[in-house]
Amino acid sequence: MSERLVVIGSQWGDEGKGKITDYFACRADMVVRYQGGNNAGHSVMFNGHKYSLQSIPSGIFNPNTVNVMGNGMVVNPESVLVELDRLHNQGVTDYQLYISDRAAMVMPWHSALDGAYEGLKGGKLIGTTKKGIGPAYSDKYSRVGLRMGDLLEPEYFAERLQAALDEKNMELKMLGLPTYDFQEVYDRYMEIAKILGPRIVDTSDLINKALLTDKKILFEGAQGMMLCIDHGTYPFVTSSTPSSASVPVGAGISPKWIDNVVGVAKAYCTRVGEGPFPTELHDEIAHEIRERGHEYGTVTGRPRRVGWFDAVVARYTSRLAGIDNWALMLFDVLSGLDKVKICTHYELDGKIIDTPPSTISKLARCKPVFIEMEGWKEDITGIKSFDELPEAAKAYVAKIEELTGVPVGVISVGPDRTQTVILSEKLKNF
Ligand code: IMP
Repeated sequence: MSERLVVIGSQWGDEGKGKITDYFACRADMVVRYQGGNNAGHSVMFNGHKYSLQSIPSGIFNPNTVNVMGNGMVVNPESVLVELDRLHNQGVTDYQLYISDRAAMVMPWHSALDGAYEGLKGGKLIGTTKKGIGPAYSDKYSRVGLRMGDLLEPEYFAERLQAALDEKNMELKMLGLPTYDFQEVYDRYMEIAKILGPRIVDTSDLINKALLTDKKILFEGAQGMMLCIDHGTYPFVTSSTPSSASVPVGAGISPKWIDNVVGVAKAYCTRVGEGPFPTELHDEIAHEIRERGHEYGTVTGRPRRVGWFDAVVARYTSRLAGIDNWALMLFDVLSGLDKVKICTHYELDGKIIDTPPSTISKLARCKPVFIEMEGWKEDITGIKSFDELPEAAKAYVAKIEELTGVPVGVISVGPDRTQTVILSEKLKNF
C-alpha cells in the first residue's frame, strides 16, 4: 500500500517548506501540488547550485519522480514555460511532469487585474504577489475561467476564450487597462498547447492509481495556513486553502487517504505582505533574526516581518489541518539570543483567549501573552541528534510540544539537506 505524506506551511508561508519538501521529495515516487500557483516560491540548494521553483513540484530534480500539478492549482502556462526553460538552462532536462486537465489557468489579464485591484485599495493593500492568483481563482468560481484541458480542444478553447474575453475586456476597459485581442491570445495559447499538451492529463486518475501501489506520495502545500482563504487572517490571505484539508479536492483523491501531515513551522514567525501579526517584533531582535534567517521574500525580495513563535496560531493550524508532527525550521537562527519568548495566549479587550478571533480588527487588538525562556549561545548547525542540543534549546522544543499538543518530528538547523534531524520514526521511514 502507498505511503502518503502531506507537508504544509503552518504559519504565514515561507516557513522553510522548500527545504523539508525537497528532503522528502528526494525519497518520493510522486510529488503533487494541490493549491496555489506561481505565487509560491522556493530555492533548493544542491551540488553547489541554486534552483528556484514557483509552480513546478519539488520532485522535478529526480528523473524517477512523477511530478503532478493538481486540479486545485491555478496554473500559469507562460510561467511554467519560463520555469522549465530556466531548469533546462541549468541542466535539469530529464524529468516527469504532468498538469491536471481540470486546473484553472492564470491568463495574462489576471495579473493586470491583480495589480489594478490592489491599486484601487488605496492605503489598504493586501500586498499580493501580483501574479494574478486571486483573479484567476475568482474566475474559476465565477465559472468564466479557462482550464488546462481546454487547450487540448481548439474549438472548445476558442469558445471558452471568447466568453472569457467578452467579460474580461469589458472589465479591463472600465479599469482603463489594455484589452486583449482574441486572435492573438488564441494563437499564443495554441502554441503553448503544442509544447505543454502532452503533459496535460487526468492527474486524479494518475494519483489514484499510484495510491493503490506501494509508491511514496508527497503532497506539497504552498503558502501557509494563516493565509488560508477560509481560516486565515481574511482579507490579508491568499485565494486558496493551503491546508491538508484541501488535498482531497485539489488532487482529486478521497479524504480517507490523508493520514500523515507535517506542519512546517519556523522556530519564530515571519509574515510578508500586510495584515495583523500579534507577535511581531519591531526592535533590534527582529533585525538580528531577519539578517540571520535571510528573511527576505523569494518571489518579491521584500523584507519579511519577524515575530516570536505563536503557539495560539500553532494550536489553531494543527487542529484545522490534523498536523501529526511539526517540522521546526531555522532553529539555529535563535542561537545567541539571551532570552527567547513564546506566545501562549492572546489578551483581547481584557480577556485571555486561546484561539485567534475571526476578524482582523479583533486580531489587531490582540496582545500576545508571552512566556520567556533562557536562550542558548551554542552553535547548533552541526548537530546530528536531539541529544546534542543545549539544554535550553531542548526545553524550548519541549515547551512548543506542550503548548501545542503536537510532537516535533523534524528539527532543521541549517539550509543544507544534511542539517536536518528527524525525530519521528514514521518520518524516518518515508
Ligand atoms: P497572493 O497569493 O499573490 O494573492 O497574495 C496574497 C497574500 O499571500 C499576500 O500577503 C502575499 O504576500 C501572501 N503570499 C502569497 N504566496 C505566498 C508565499 O508563497 N509565501 C508567503 N506569502 C505568500
